[in-house]
Amino acid sequence: MDGFKASPSWISLMQHRRVLSGLSLRNLFERDPHRFHRFSIGDDDLLLDYSKNLITGETMDLLTSLAEEADLAGWREALFAGETVNGSEGRPALHTALRQNPAEAPRLEGMDVGGAVAEVLSRMREISEAVRGGRYFGGAGDPVTDVVNLGIGGSDLGPRLLVDALGDQAPEGAPRVHFVANLDGVELRRTLAACRPESTLFLVVSKSFGTLETRINFERARAWLAAAGLSEHAVRERFLAVTARPDRVEALGLDPGRVVPLWDWVGGRYSLWSAVGLSVAIALGMDAFTDLLAGAAAMDEHFRGAPLAENMPAVMALLGIWYANGFGIPDRSVVPYTDRLRLLPNYLQQLEMESNGKRVGRDGRSVDHSTAPSVWGQTGTNAQHAFFQALHQGTYMIPVDFVGVGEDVSGGWGDQRQLLANLMAQSRALMLGRDEREARREMEREGLDEERIEALLPFRVCPGGRPSNTLLMRSLTPRSLGRLLALYEHRTFVQAVIWRINPFDQWGVELGKQLAGDLMRALDDPAAAEEMDSSTEGLVARLKDWGSL
Ligand code: F6P
Repeated sequence: MDGFKASPSWISLMQHRRVLSGLSLRNLFERDPHRFHRFSIGDDDLLLDYSKNLITGETMDLLTSLAEEADLAGWREALFAGETVNGSEGRPALHTALRQNPAEAPRLEGMDVGGAVAEVLSRMREISEAVRGGRYFGGAGDPVTDVVNLGIGGSDLGPRLLVDALGDQAPEGAPRVHFVANLDGVELRRTLAACRPESTLFLVVSKSFGTLETRINFERARAWLAAAGLSEHAVRERFLAVTARPDRVEALGLDPGRVVPLWDWVGGRYSLWSAVGLSVAIALGMDAFTDLLAGAAAMDEHFRGAPLAENMPAVMALLGIWYANGFGIPDRSVVPYTDRLRLLPNYLQQLEMESNGKRVGRDGRSVDHSTAPSVWGQTGTNAQHAFFQALHQGTYMIPVDFVGVGEDVSGGWGDQRQLLANLMAQSRALMLGRDEREARREMEREGLDEERIEALLPFRVCPGGRPSNTLLMRSLTPRSLGRLLALYEHRTFVQAVIWRINPFDQWGVELGKQLAGDLMRALDDPAAAEEMDSSTEGLVARLKDWGSL
């Protein structure tokens, strides 16, 4: 299969890029006072301003053609129809069905997907209301005061982001919801130090029910309950499993009757809309969870219906490809200007890099182009005091997604005007830069003498022309957050379609897990240890000297 670089649009884009290189972003704005209106998409709740990108109308036309040549429309319909879009695992990827009207959900091998999803949502509501109503332990035990989600990756990042963003806005009476993912024990210990065994409910969330970290944390949690003298029944009653492998639940010592199902046609990093989001339904209430689903469904509708030139996920995806492949930029940064979204970069790292960090195309052949860039970021304005120096004056440009919320979500504790002014100023500074004349004038105003000005000039110039998107949400609610996260899901999918890769498998994570198992065996078997490389041998030896292994 020819990669996208053989497509007529890409060849034209590369010619176009040479023309564009002679223009500056500042010039493009100076030449077109209506640039914002030409290069922004949105409605009353969500706005995408992509005018500060290195683009012209022609750029966008060519990028849109690139999507058409990749048959984005066909792949998009295949996604929603439940076709086998995950080729290497022979599966659909039906996360969209989790938030769709059940009557419109596709049927899979005779399975009534809509019905199954509706049943799980009903079960989630029942559990959420019982926990929040103090009735979960059947009235016999204490009301649940703490819920601990034991899961990692897609079984942690989405729910953790949602509860961190909105949890303290939940109506009174909700239990505290905690998240434990790593097997290093630090998070588990800190969490359980604040909990009581009698009133703690553990959600063991694992699609495969074979993930080492989650299994170890489950064992530790069970020991903690048992050590508190709880009966076997009371211990089992304090675990709920969310998994696509109910057959593995009993083997782990969990009650097979306490399982909320998941399905293999939902990818882990696309699963927060399923029972993986049970912690969210408990923390925020089930009505908030259904609002979240409604927000995502609204974005689904936009993605399916909007013409490509007005399609937020498609436009953001194409701009990402323009920089990753047109300019060879291996990075992108996401900077949310509210601490409520401080976990958004973490979530997007898995969504984008586990989906599109691939070197082999759908046809099994190596691709001849870059795929997912590294995604990283931090809350603004903190990031301005961390890595913005590199964004402004580093040796290569790094495209930024600025994400802001119009309403003050701090309850009046912050300075919303300053926050938003900083958000806009940073994207403006990246675009404008500061040329020698401006730098000189600024130093003159500061009263520096000519010699000092000459010496400082090269250090004070900012090249500018550095691209960014600005996403503004009017308010931060379950619905608006559902739209935002679905936007990034579809952005990820569009890029995969154009890169001709499968965004729904993750074979690359298996090798590390397998080698960890080999290493564990080698720690007890000197013969096996000799098969290790000298680095591993040296590290093992030193850790053994320290008594760590
Ligand atoms: O990182 C690999 C991975 O399989 C992710 O795709 C997944 O979200 C995570 O591990 C956890 O998997 P599970 O939900 O099966 O425990």
